[in-house]
Amino acid sequence: MKTPLQLLDAFKARFGSAASIYRAPGRVNLIGEHTDYNDGFVLPAAIEFYCWTAVAPRRDGKFVIHSENFNETVEAGLDSLSPLGKKHWANYPLGVAWALRQAGKPITGANLYIAGDVPLGAGLSSSAAVEVAAGFALLNHSSHAVGLAELAQLCQKAENEFVGARVGIMDQFVSCFGRASHALLLDCRSLEHKFVRLPADLQLVICNTMVRHELASGEYNARRAECEEGVRILRTVFPEIRALRDVTLSQLEAHRRELPPKVFARCRHVITENARVKSAVEAFHPGDTAALGRLLQDSHRSLRDDYEVSCGELDLMVEIAVAQPGLIGARMTGGGFGGCTINLVKSASVTDFGRNVAAEYFSKTRLTPEIYVSPASEGAQQMALEETKPPYDRN
Ligand code: GLA
Repeated sequence: MKTPLQLLDAFKARFGSAASIYRAPGRVNLIGEHTDYNDGFVLPAAIEFYCWTAVAPRRDGKFVIHSENFNETVEAGLDSLSPLGKKHWANYPLGVAWALRQAGKPITGANLYIAGDVPLGAGLSSSAAVEVAAGFALLNHSSHAVGLAELAQLCQKAENEFVGARVGIMDQFVSCFGRASHALLLDCRSLEHKFVRLPADLQLVICNTMVRHELASGEYNARRAECEEGVRILRTVFPEIRALRDVTLSQLEAHRRELPPKVFARCRHVITENARVKSAVEAFHPGDTAALGRLLQDSHRSLRDDYEVSCGELDLMVEIAVAQPGLIGARMTGGGFGGCTINLVKSASVTDFGRNVAAEYFSKTRLTPEIYVSPASEGAQQMALEETKPPYDRN
């Protein structure tokens, strides 16, 4: 990754002016998977992989956006923002510009230079990192203050309505609010959140199966629709429920026969996963590693069997991990269908853990996994190259 100064040079070489620089992180989710769009609870942490955006204003009402990763430049008029082809990288920053305009934020045209080191298609939220970094940048250069929670929601809206993926709020929220050494417990209904300090003797080890998860966006939307179907049916007997967040396991079990079997299983995952998030937060405080380990393992099984978003490579990665010394718990993380596992590992065992898992995974799949050891990091911020007031408040 370039340093901020190298990024400034790259910006100047392309656009011929100085710029301000922002960055926003990717994330890893410790527990609470596929619960965010069910108004539930999640426990992600921002990681030390970022999307960087250099920005300077233009006076002709255009956006000119260059992606270093894709080595491509696109141009769009402020008043005629519409998505490019399906899966085009520029839909993320353009979508954020569109969402900011829709919300009446007075943004003007800009040159943007975007570069990132969040692995793509690995379930570590490279998309949210681009959205948040671009949103920060656009708001700043038009000197418009906005709260971080509103920025996260507008980035989610961009992904839902402009890009066309019906994602929840988790990724954008933690990319905005992440805190070093902490995971973030988020209530996805009220957006109330609190920080959970991670034990100093544990590390977050992320193992990339190298199976890209991108092709699964249809499956993601299908899971969401199944949850909505569950709510629709359950509401006929419990009219007060608004989302699966409001349903207890005994209520679900009492009405098992009214639900198609797959819908029942999807609902059971969401309801039990919400309970696991709360138990995990309780287990972090006294450092109850045995309980944490069980919760991560149960989460993986539930995602594999009830929610059916795992895959052979993720299951294998977890199976290899749980046999290693120093492992507290392991499970798939993110949307699923490939991507990464999250492993809580005793600090003293991290090097051996990474080496052993990589060797065994390779010998069984012939795929060379990438292993990332990342501390929990800070959320979006402006890089201090000049004295400017940040356009946000953290409340
Ligand atoms: C993706 C989405 C999130 C969340 C996870 C699954 O990362 O962007 O909103 O739904 O999948 O927990």
